[in-house]
Amino acid sequence: MSASVAPTRVSVKAASAEYDILIGRSLLDDPSSWEGLPRSHRALVVSNETVAPLWAAPVLARLRQRHAHVELLSLPDGEVHKDWPALNRIFDALLGAGADRHTVLYALGGGVVGDMTGFAAGCYMRGVPFVQIPTTLLAQVDSSVGGKTAINHPLGKNMIGLFYQPLRVLCDLATLDTLPDREFSAGLGEVIKYGPIADAGFFGWLEQNLDALLARDPAALAHAVQRACEIKAEVVGADERESGLRAILNFGHTFGHAIETGLGYGQWLHGEAVGCGMLMAADLSVRLGLIDPGLAARLEHLVQRAGLPVQGPALGASRYLELMGHDKKSLEGRIRYVLLKRLGEAVVQGADAALVAEVIERRCKA
Ligand code: NAD
Ligand code: GLY
Repeated sequence: MSASVAPTRVSVKAASAEYDILIGRSLLDDPSSWEGLPRSHRALVVSNETVAPLWAAPVLARLRQRHAHVELLSLPDGEVHKDWPALNRIFDALLGAGADRHTVLYALGGGVVGDMTGFAAGCYMRGVPFVQIPTTLLAQVDSSVGGKTAINHPLGKNMIGLFYQPLRVLCDLATLDTLPDREFSAGLGEVIKYGPIADAGFFGWLEQNLDALLARDPAALAHAVQRACEIKAEVVGADERESGLRAILNFGHTFGHAIETGLGYGQWLHGEAVGCGMLMAADLSVRLGLIDPGLAARLEHLVQRAGLPVQGPALGASRYLELMGHDKKSLEGRIRYVLLKRLGEAVVQGADAALVAEVIERRCKA
């Protein structure tokens, strides 16, 4: 686990901003990772009660060489705290410290911390700079890249938020050493997603290398994070605000968000819900005659090997459909699904509700 892997740089060229994703081991300790970032008077590191004791020290040490005042805010841990009270604690900390428009926010944690810190940065004084330091596999391959920020609403996941890009993303692969296995598997759900929607070759690579990934082999991990970030950067570069193409990144999410909201936030991890949701979307693609059952079976095998659930919770098909009605891709009350056209290509379209209900019932535990 301690073998060093040379840092890699992936560039995001979005319409509103351009920035780099740095990927490598022990980036947080390397002064060059921080070069070019603003040296403002004040900085706030936003983390949580689990991640801060593990990873805040090297970040604070570096930042104290760059900013006169650096504070750490440790939020409560969990998807259930991706809400207004936690978001307000960031604003309280900023205002309490006298933060100004040049104050830099650093998000140190998984997707929950990253999404909330980005949201706060986009709102505070109408926008202050922020840097993503993702510490989960899921955040390194997905949530820290592309500028989607949000909190949850009891009626729907990530319903309140804005697009706001970071100045840089620092993916230190060493931070994954302390990630629990269940969280690592959840991250693999988002890694796997990129194959079916965009890169058949990467899907094949995952089939070949999943055991190495599960063993957290440094070279395999570096490749997976890099390829995922490259695909995401390309999609975000073409369609930052999801007017079309970017919706493919939501493969599995229409069903997955319904699972998360329906069970109550935090019962299933986001990546678990996405993993199972991808299988529902693949089943639906088969039923619509878009792909053959063999491809859906390959995807199911990979999701299962990654340690993710392949059967959904029995919320009832009508409850799934009700929850999916809030999906951000819905148009004029019609739910739209990200489906597979072939391995490496996705399409977004509606589907008959009775057919969707049938697919859900077959994929759910009795
Ligand atoms: P998370 O942020 O809840 O982190 C998972 C758990 O791992 C938490 O308990 C956290 O404290 C802990 N943790 C984090 N880093 C650790 C480390 N290095 N060692 C030990 N423990 C560590 O969950 P997540 O899976 O990172 O992110 C899920 C969130 O991301 C969801 O809210 C989802 O909606 C969001 N998301 C956003 C986007 C986007 O584009 N913005 C994309 C995908 C997911
Ligand atoms: N995770 C979906 C997106 O960034 O668009």
